[in-house]
Amino acid sequence: MLSQADFHRLARFIQDYSGIRMPDSKRTMLEGRLRRRLAALQMTDFRQYCRYVFDEQGLEEEAVHLIDAVTTNKTDFFREPEHFRYLSTNAVARVLQKRGYERGMRLVAWSAACSIGAEPYTMAMVLEDMAGQGLDFDYSILATDICTQVLERGTRGVYPEEMAAPVPAEFRRRYLMRARDRQRQEVRVVPELRRKVQFMRMNLLEDAYPLRQPADIIFCRNILIYFDKPTQAHVLERLCASLRPGGFLFLGHSETIGGYSLPLEQVATTIFVRR
Ligand SMILES: C[S@@+](CC[C@H](N)C(=O)[O-])C[C@H]1O[C@@H](n2cnc3c(N)ncnc32)[C@H](O)[C@@H]1O
Repeated sequence: MLSQADFHRLARFIQDYSGIRMPDSKRTMLEGRLRRRLAALQMTDFRQYCRYVFDEQGLEEEAVHLIDAVTTNKTDFFREPEHFRYLSTNAVARVLQKRGYERGMRLVAWSAACSIGAEPYTMAMVLEDMAGQGLDFDYSILATDICTQVLERGTRGVYPEEMAAPVPAEFRRRYLMRARDRQRQEVRVVPELRRKVQFMRMNLLEDAYPLRQPADIIFCRNILIYFDKPTQAHVLERLCASLRPGGFLFLGHSETIGGYSLPLEQVATTIFVRR
């Protein structure tokens, strides 16, 4: 059993490190998810685990595993599809125009809590499709997450076939390959798109975000809900600082920019432009 005291120590660390709120109601979840970690470390109980983490300097090694254990990575291709419609019918053209469109111009997009990659690869499908018809532009996508396991999956770009269901048939045909061994029932993102998406570990609580240049488009969806208000404000400020004026920020369907004073103007439900 994970005692209340040990849960609080772990919860405090997780919240300070990642921003993910850990109320008492999450104790059973944490206990369940850490059991596998205990087995991997050949430890018999949580007491021993907490002693290792907090008293024997195990934390540096263990932080990654602890965070991997508590993140919720639910995602889908074309999740909240109106965002991708807006991207293709509105945002991309407006960004390129604002920057003084020239042929071959490079658009920088960022999926800032990318989970296993469905979101950045959906962006890639939409951008690739647009770049192939009329508007001549190039693009790169940075895909970041705090959880190392999801980043490995994103880099591989292999998904169970049923995850491809929301992908429009034409995009499925062009951008997803079926495994040669049909029994595996998997699809893989084509190499042309995989090359466009760079996966990297990044904690949104860090002060400096590692973008070489400001982004034109940021998707930061379904993550702010896990943070408390001051953390949401801090992250939104950092995101604004990483967004080019005229660039677009997309949040998750139940997320808002609250009452914070931010250089953002709302242009559609959960879609904002940087002033
Ligand atoms: C529910 S998923 C959302 C995935 C995707 N954006 C979507 O909407 O489909 C939330 C992701 O945020 C990541 N995450 C949690 N805390 C984070 C932090 N402090 N920095 C970066 N990513 C974080 C989790 O690992 C998880 O993959």
